[in-house]
Parts: sequence; structure tokens; C-alpha cells
Amino acid sequence: MTPQADPHSSAPENLPLPPGSSGLPLLGETLDFLRSSRDFAERRRRQYGPVFRSHVLGSPAAFLLGPDAIQWIFAGEGKYLKNRWTSGVRRLLGANSLALLEGEEHLERRRLLAPHFSYATMRGFVPAIESLATRHFERWAALPGDFTLWPSMRELAFEIALSLIFGQDTVDVPFLMRHFQAWTAGLFVPLAVNLPWTTFGRALAAKKAMITYLDQLVAERQKRTEQPPDLLGSLLRHREGEEPLSREAIVEELQLLLFAGHDTTVTATSNLMLLLAQHPDVLQKGREAVADLEGPLTLDALRAMPYLVQLIHEGMRLIPPIGGAFRITTRDVAYNGYRIPKGWMVPVSIRMAHSGEHWPAAERFDPERFGSERNEQRKPGTFIPFGGGPRICLGQHFAMVEMSVMLALLLKHYTWELVPGQDLSYVMVPFARPRSGIQLRMRRRS
Ligand code: HEM
Repeated sequence: MTPQADPHSSAPENLPLPPGSSGLPLLGETLDFLRSSRDFAERRRRQYGPVFRSHVLGSPAAFLLGPDAIQWIFAGEGKYLKNRWTSGVRRLLGANSLALLEGEEHLERRRLLAPHFSYATMRGFVPAIESLATRHFERWAALPGDFTLWPSMRELAFEIALSLIFGQDTVDVPFLMRHFQAWTAGLFVPLAVNLPWTTFGRALAAKKAMITYLDQLVAERQKRTEQPPDLLGSLLRHREGEEPLSREAIVEELQLLLFAGHDTTVTATSNLMLLLAQHPDVLQKGREAVADLEGPLTLDALRAMPYLVQLIHEGMRLIPPIGGAFRITTRDVAYNGYRIPKGWMVPVSIRMAHSGEHWPAAERFDPERFGSERNEQRKPGTFIPFGGGPRICLGQHFAMVEMSVMLALLLKHYTWELVPGQDLSYVMVPFARPRSGIQLRMRRRS
């Protein structure tokens, strides 16, 4: 059966629910889902087919698998689907930020932010990213022994995100980083209990401290007559006839951007460094791709090295920094001959889209898959590291440029090797990370 491209064309009330099981009372099939969402879905796909129902994370859910289903989900944003966040995340992110806005308000905020995230705008950020990355890489390479990549990459990515937002302003990086870490730890707790000694309680306290600090920075900026060309400047400028954003909305937006633009790039870049250390032949090809690089990096120089993008894309295909997202139906809808009732959760599995029949030998790290010819043949909905539809990642160009700069510098100037005997098995939630945090020894290339 082909997917129902237009859900309005069928009357859902006459259709059956998808096949599947609701599992245990209250818990549903949550435990099985949390063990491995991919194995969970794969087993049920074999049993029921690509559309099945379940009950996970406190909600009845319809799982719709395959690239056509992915396209249908992305197309449904604001029509029959909306974003689904847990109440804990809603409290921590704040209702005024892009990720939580819906409908017209969401589109309006995206229109406001989009110019600052265009590919062309990234030209201005390349020197700042290069300078920050070089400072951190040099420090790592000068360490007498080994170090753990994950926390070090978090520091670097955080500074880069701050430079995108605040440009040249002086910011208390250690203060913000400390509170940011406590805040993000609370975003993924299974139970959001607000007591001072719980992770969630500490996260709410950290959010308060961050908001007070960010609010002061914004207030200082508002006193200036001219805004510099950074993200905060964009948020403070508004066009004729437009309502200016409230200070509260600006502060919540800044918090969201710090969150959305941080652990994602840390995950992608750190895992790619690990994959390259494990695949010397690919690493060598990467080094050849940057061999002619000279002088400061520019957007044009990066564009002239398409292999960098191939490496980053294949890294994100194999280990997507965001494994998936959740939507919720806003009314009864028909999909592929089944009824999905209003209020049901619809997971978007990025991890599953990146494996299966469309990716032969999917477990192999093979950047050749992203050669230009093969890119043209790719079916939409099979490679979605940045999501899709109206909620496609706002920062995708920034992320690609940031990661390309880091990768070019690493390939050109440094060697890195894994410390033997470390535990490289993966923890998948909230971000796919080897248990050891990736212990490395890094040196400058002679
Ligand atoms: C490797 C890096 C990144 C990956 C893989 C990634 C992935 C994603 C994905 C999959 C979504 C969609 C989530 C959904 O459908 O619910 C998303 C949304 C978003 N991303 Fe990214 N992201 C990355 C980096 C960034 C950066 C650097 C920024 C900003 C500086 C950013 C800002 C955002 C924002 C604001 C949204 C919400 C968009 C909306 O709701 O309209 N991301 N990202």
C-alpha cells in the first residue's frame, strides 16, 4: 500500500488503528523502547509491517517507518502534527523559544532568525571559529599525556556558540559553562522532580542563574544605539512595523540556541575524530584533501574541499547526533489506511532512516557514499541528520561550517591516537557517546 500523501482525502474515523500492542498498564512498552529504540522498531517492523502502534513514554504512539513516512511527518508540521516535549523540558527551555513556539508564531520567529543563519552569513564567523579552535587544539596537543575528548570538545563548542551570539562582548565563560552543564543535565531526566538535591531541581536553579546573567548582558546591549553584527544584535534589531521581541523572549531564545548548537556539534565532531582514528585509510584521504590548504581558512577554501563534507555527512549518518524527535497528532488523521487518533505520539527516528535497505552495509563507515553522483540519487527522507520540514535545524549551516573548520585544522595540523584499553561501547541517550568519553593523545604534525 502506498502512503496516503494527503491525509485530508480519507475520513480517518472509518479506518482501523495500526496493528501493535499497548504493553503493560501505565508503562506500556517503554522499557523495551529505552533499551534500544532501533531494535525495538526493527522487531515490530518484522512482526507488524512499517506502520504499528505501541505505548511508550507515557503516551500511545504510532510508529511510521520508511522515507515516505518521514516525508509525511515533516509535511504535517502545523497541519496535523506538532512538536512534543516533556513537561520538564518545557519548563527548562521556556515557552518563548523557537522550539516551543507553534504555528504562525513559530514561522514568524524563524523568519526573524533565518537571515542570521544563512550560509552566506557564515563567512563572517570562519575567522572566529578558526581562532578559537586553534587555541584549544594547540592546548590539547601540548599536554604531556592523554586527555578526554568529550569535555574538552564541550568547552570549545560552548565558546564557539557564545561567539556566534555575543560576538566581541566580554562574557564570563566559566560561570556560564558551569550553569549550562547543570541546566542541560536536567533536560533529559526521566522524572522532573523539583527538589534542591535532584538533577532537575539543580537544573532549574542553574536556569535561574543563567537567565539573570543573560538578562544583564541583553540589558547592557539594549543601551547601545548601534548593534554589532552578531546574533544578539539580530534579535535586538527589528523591522519597521514589527513588534520588538521582549527581553524575556530574547533571553529564552539565547538559552535555546546555546543548547541546540552545543552538544550536537560536540557529538558529531568527537565521534568523527574517533571514526577517523579507527579508519587510517579514510584519515589519509582526508589529509590529502587538505594538503594544499594555506593561510587563514575562508568559506571558499572550505567549499573547495568537498571531501570534508563527505566525512562529516557519513559520520552523522552512522552516528546521528540527534537520534530522533517526537511529534504529536493535533487531530485524528489517516495514514496508509490506518487511523491515528488525536493526541498520539509520532516518533521520527533519524537513526532508523540512516540504516536499513537504502544504506547497504549500513554499519560500515564509508564516506564514498556521499560522493556527488550518489548524492543526486539519494531518496528524500533517507538522510536527515538536521531533521526536515518547517522545523529543520535552524543552525545547520553554522554547524556544517563550524565542523568543517575544525576538521580542516585537525587533518592539516594534528595527529591523534586512541589510548588503548578504553571502553568505547556507546551510551545512546541523550547523545551517542562512548563510555570512556574518548581518551586521546594528540600531537602537532611535524
Ligand atoms: C551537528 C550539529 C547539529 C545537528 C545534527 C542538529 C540537528 C537538529 C535537528 C534534527 C533538529 C530538528 C528537531 C525536530 O525535528 O524536532 C534541530 C532543530 C534545531 N536546531 Fe539543530 N542541529 C545541529 C546544530 C545546531 C546549531 C549549531 C544550532 C544553532 C546555533 C542549532 C539550532 C537549532 C534550532 C534553534 C532548532 C529548532 C528549530 C525549530 O524548532 O524551528 N542546531 N537541529
